[in-house]
Amino acid sequence: MNVGIDKINFFVPPHYIDMVDLAHARGVDPNKFTIGIGQDQMAVSKVTQDIVTFAMHAAKPMLTKEDLAAVDMVIVGTETGIDESKASAVVLHRLLGVQPFARSFEIKEACYGATAGVQFAKNHIQANPDSKVLVVASDIARYGLASGGEPTQGAGAVALLITAEPRILAFDNDNVMLTQDIYDFWRPVGHQYPVVDGHLSNEVYINSFKQVWQESCRRHQRTAADYAAICFHIPYTKMGKKALLAGFETEDQVQQERLLTRYEESITYSRRVGNLYTGSLYLGLISLIENATTLSEGDRIGLFSYGSGAVAEFFSGRLVEGYQQQLNKKSHEALLDARQKLSIEAYEQLFEEKIDIDTNKTFTDDLLYSIHEIKDTIRYYKDGNE
Ligand code: CAA
Repeated sequence: MNVGIDKINFFVPPHYIDMVDLAHARGVDPNKFTIGIGQDQMAVSKVTQDIVTFAMHAAKPMLTKEDLAAVDMVIVGTETGIDESKASAVVLHRLLGVQPFARSFEIKEACYGATAGVQFAKNHIQANPDSKVLVVASDIARYGLASGGEPTQGAGAVALLITAEPRILAFDNDNVMLTQDIYDFWRPVGHQYPVVDGHLSNEVYINSFKQVWQESCRRHQRTAADYAAICFHIPYTKMGKKALLAGFETEDQVQQERLLTRYEESITYSRRVGNLYTGSLYLGLISLIENATTLSEGDRIGLFSYGSGAVAEFFSGRLVEGYQQQLNKKSHEALLDARQKLSIEAYEQLFEEKIDIDTNKTFTDDLLYSIHEIKDTIRYYKDGNE
């Protein structure tokens, strides 16, 4: 029995800034952001939007009534939790209308959380082939105004429906995992923004990729030629490219260039969005399968997941016959094109707005699913029926 991704969708908030504008405002050469970091635009969220808001927008449109009746597990991978105890997955479960006899929980390990969720889902489906698992990666990546990490921020969610006999990607059973206790990026309890050693984080990311890639090749007797494409966690689009070049420096030129071309196709959406943290790898996968010029059924795609701290995993899947019919390229492009560009002043103003969970307040936001009220420390969301 095959297990894998049956449906996949993403959502990003309706506002963004242009990286050239940000560079000018920060007194930096724009080429540093557009070429050195590899970002053109960056998604910006409002105070009325959080991980539940984004998760709803990503998951709701792709789920049918039959899916909601079959889902018996809702997993949210995030590092932007809104509660120290209660999982956002429980709120999502209710807002989506998933049948009640389900398990709902949240997973945290920096940007790796959703991959842990996907693997948990895979094991669950192998034991329960009739059920379906919803995994959502949802985050708001923020480092602070004028901080070193500022050009690598972003926001949004990716929803994946994991099932038996999937229609998009069937997972291979070839995962190689790696754990190393390293402080490259972390957020102590109570801290609003992460503490990050940016250059160390780049180094650990690249070394982690090399280790899991080489171990995977050793265990499964594969080479780069066995992969039609490799998707990377994309904190900024230059990062995956650096790892790819470092990991494949001993590969022949033809394989290197082929994988680099596929990588460029996998970053089309991320260049316009920035870092989704847990969702970034899966946004890259959507971008690849919607924009690649040469992929076909049966092709193997490698996936490199990385979460600072640090956990990495390399695994793969094969494109399923007819996968093209499950894609939504037009609506994804429309979502990105319909966004409103903000001036840097407007972005800074939005950035400084904070939710005070201890003060009762109502809010307005045009977004279908957004926070409409804080009352007695509880977030109440518009459920799309207003
Ligand atoms: N024209 C073209 N390129 C230029 C340039 C110019 N005028 N000026 C600089 N550059 C290039 C630099 O050469 C460099 O390229 P290489 O890395 O290929 O050498 C690139 O632009 C970035 O320049 P710096 O290294 O000087 O940039 P920085 O010191 O401002 O830091 C950063 C960059 C480390 C990514 C920082 O933005 C940061 O800390 N970001 C957050 C951490 C992060 O994303 N880490 C990634 C790995 S960790 C992870 O993946 C988990 C996660 O999601 C957070």
